[in-house]
Amino acid sequence: MGAPLVRLPSLGPWSLRAVALFAAAALAPAARAAAGPALGEEPIKPLPLSLHQDPARAAIGQRLFADTRLSGNRQLSCASCHDLARNGADTRARSAGIKGRLTALNTPTVFNAAFNFKQFWDGRADTLERQIEIVVADPVEMGGHWPEVVARIGADPAYRRAFGAAYRAGVSQATIVDALASFERTLITPASRFDRYLRGDARAISSAEKAGYAKFKQYGCVACHQGVNVGGNMFQKFGVMGALPPGAGAGAPGRFGVTGLAEDRQVFKVPSLRNVADTAPYFHDASAATLDAAVDAMFTYQLGRRGSKEDKAAIILFLRTLSGKPGTAP
Ligand code: HEC
Ligand code: HEC
Repeated sequence: MGAPLVRLPSLGPWSLRAVALFAAAALAPAARAAAGPALGEEPIKPLPLSLHQDPARAAIGQRLFADTRLSGNRQLSCASCHDLARNGADTRARSAGIKGRLTALNTPTVFNAAFNFKQFWDGRADTLERQIEIVVADPVEMGGHWPEVVARIGADPAYRRAFGAAYRAGVSQATIVDALASFERTLITPASRFDRYLRGDARAISSAEKAGYAKFKQYGCVACHQGVNVGGNMFQKFGVMGALPPGAGAGAPGRFGVTGLAEDRQVFKVPSLRNVADTAPYFHDASAATLDAAVDAMFTYQLGRRGSKEDKAAIILFLRTLSGKPGTAP
């Protein structure tokens, strides 16, 4: 994405510095709450209203997203694990992949995934396109074989016509991937109440929700969850301020699996908090069943602080304003 990303080293005392920095910034005049936000200064940016995808290509992608011919045994589509009617994710801790195999990690939402700087919890895919290439062929997830997928889609006259009209190359692995990624780039939620607030509608969120946003900044949640996706633009260790509870995070190598660097153990992409109220359970290992539990864990393990009950409740009120339905006009 073109937006400037805050790229910080994933570990070390920087996060404390950043927390202090944002905490200081948040002490700025409270009077502002009455007016709209001062956008240039906000650590969270509104989503663009559209990423302007080619409608014909996105329409093919929408169809492919629900097409089980992409999986080896013709039983799974992207939509089997990413429920578009609900939250773009899965309510199960781990999703059922091909032949009932369970995914190693909790399924994130595809809504606004276009704004993540990398895809997957460990960031092993740089682009949506690469993510699609991987998931179709993944032996646990879709167990597909690209040449076979291309042959199946190419054998369908309706697809052949649609691809022929939208792409000079017709049906190919590259155009299937491109159509799916185009569709994913339409799955953005700029109609959320918080986006309306950021775009200048001071009444789009209540004063209690504004207070929650102020707490989110004061406590330093924004040190990691920031930018257009309220996350999705850096890697961080899960458990920077303290060892995780037994069992949490134990089974996944995180970023270490990609880089092989010792300091990348337990490091994950900071997830986007957009639509977070709708995407329980939480964390890469689904170790938090509720938003309350997830926020509690963040206080303990990412901030090393205890928040009052009222402050946590206020933050959750704010987090709920980040939900929106894709395709809704703002
Ligand atoms: C069997 C369930 C399953 C299927 C089918 C599936 N996914 Fe996923 N998806 C997951 C899981 C689990 C992850 C996280 C895996 C990881 O991070 O290692 C994921 C991650 C993603 C991500 C990255 C999101 C982020 O925030 O990092 C995107 C985008 C995505 N999937 C899109 C798709 C598309 C497009 C398809 C179809 C081509 C698809 N998925 C099929 C389970 C599934
Ligand atoms: C030092 C960086 C950091 C700070 C500060 C931080 N987080 Fe997080 N947050 C993360 C990381 C990393 C994860 C993913 C952990 C995992 O699953 O491995 C995460 C995950 C979450 C999740 C779960 C999202 C999901 O889809 O599973 C929520 C909710 C959350 N954070 C809220 C907060 C709140 C609220 C605060 C402030 C009280 C906060 N975070 C502070 C780094 C941070």
